[in-house]
Amino acid sequence: MPWLTGDVHVLTTSTDDPARAAWAAEHFDDWYAAQAAGESHGRADPALWQPGERRAQLEHGTVDDRIHLLLARDAAGAALGAAEVWLPVHDNAHLAIVDAAVVPAHRRRGVGTALLRAGLDVAAAAGRTRVRSTTERPVGVAAGDWPGSAAATAWGFAVAQAVVRRQLLLPPRPGLLDELERAAAPRATGYAVRTWAGPAPQEHVDAIAHLASRMSTDAPRGELSTTPEVWDATRVREGEVLRTAQGRRWWTALALAPGGEPVGYTVLVNSRHEPQRLLQHDTLVVREHRGHRLGLLLKVACLRAALHDVPGAERVTTWNAASNAPMVAVNEALGFRCDEVVEELEAPLEAVRAAAGGVAAGVAR
Ligand SMILES: CC(C)(COP(=O)(O)OP(=O)(O)OC[C@H]1O[C@@H](n2cnc3c(N)ncnc32)[C@H](O)[C@@H]1OP(=O)(O)O)[C@@H](O)C(=O)NCCC(=O)NCCS
Repeated sequence: MPWLTGDVHVLTTSTDDPARAAWAAEHFDDWYAAQAAGESHGRADPALWQPGERRAQLEHGTVDDRIHLLLARDAAGAALGAAEVWLPVHDNAHLAIVDAAVVPAHRRRGVGTALLRAGLDVAAAAGRTRVRSTTERPVGVAAGDWPGSAAATAWGFAVAQAVVRRQLLLPPRPGLLDELERAAAPRATGYAVRTWAGPAPQEHVDAIAHLASRMSTDAPRGELSTTPEVWDATRVREGEVLRTAQGRRWWTALALAPGGEPVGYTVLVNSRHEPQRLLQHDTLVVREHRGHRLGLLLKVACLRAALHDVPGAERVTTWNAASNAPMVAVNEALGFRCDEVVEELEAPLEAVRAAAGGVAAGVAR
């Protein structure tokens, strides 16, 4: 069903939509191009999911989140902007993640607001009461000079957590990983690190589920409203099947305490659609086992495993809460340098609807 404001038509599908293949055949390429144009503008190296990863996710169907894609077209059919709504399905039933991006040539005409309002309708229909979004801008650009941050303010969002993106240019300085490991080893006596590529060995799948749930309680959350995530082996396996369908490879390092108990992990991901980039996913050491340099040892082991299999990788991209001093220190020791400032934003859904209604009253035409 098209959603309409002025001459902006918003066309939607979702990972639960039985007709999503037909929607994709007609609209996916325009959806992706609009989203990429909007998200990339003004940024040197946006870490966008590649079209093949997106397409596979839509085809595969719902895993951790039901995902709605929204495409704004004008009356002549031109693609103006794109949005997505992520609705967590296992936990966080209060939350909708809504991101909108508008092709630069079509900005300041109300398209972003129209997409946001359509996204809010999807979220409200699913019973969600809070909305989260994100802005990403180069280091050195003030929030007031960045369209996404200005729009977020106009739409009633507040910054719930400040995040910094860092990148590590590869390969690391020769000898650096050995030096870091040697320096850390005395603090980690009795602990072991195991690494593997791809799906978790069966004996560790429950540990990965447990550690994934601890990510939602033990990593800094700022003012984000996230409630504890619910993970089990089935959810881990479903995620692995999806990643494989998306053309991704991944490496896991798992820390084991002296008694054999799993106490930390880290994951690096590489896409065959963008082989030059390694993406840092979760890293966690549970609170009770911090202070043993396990964060560093996990990252070094995982990076070695990934570089062994993808020797041509050019960089690692990672995001950390600005407040996460221990993780930031590990990353800086490895040679990561900041290049983008990220705002994680939240607000009550009805407050955003009211603010966007006010903006749209003036600009949607
Ligand atoms: C943010 C974005 C989607 C806005 O798209 P848009 O179609 O220009 O949005 P609208 O025309 O509906 O603008 C809504 C309001 O946001 C504010 N705004 C948007 N861009 C602005 C800018 N460059 N400077 C100042 N205010 C701005 C204004 O208050 C505007 O209302 P107004 O034009 O009546 O003053 C677009 O800039 C974009 O794609 N940015 C990159 C992705 C992103 O950051 N997404 C938003 C995450 S919250």
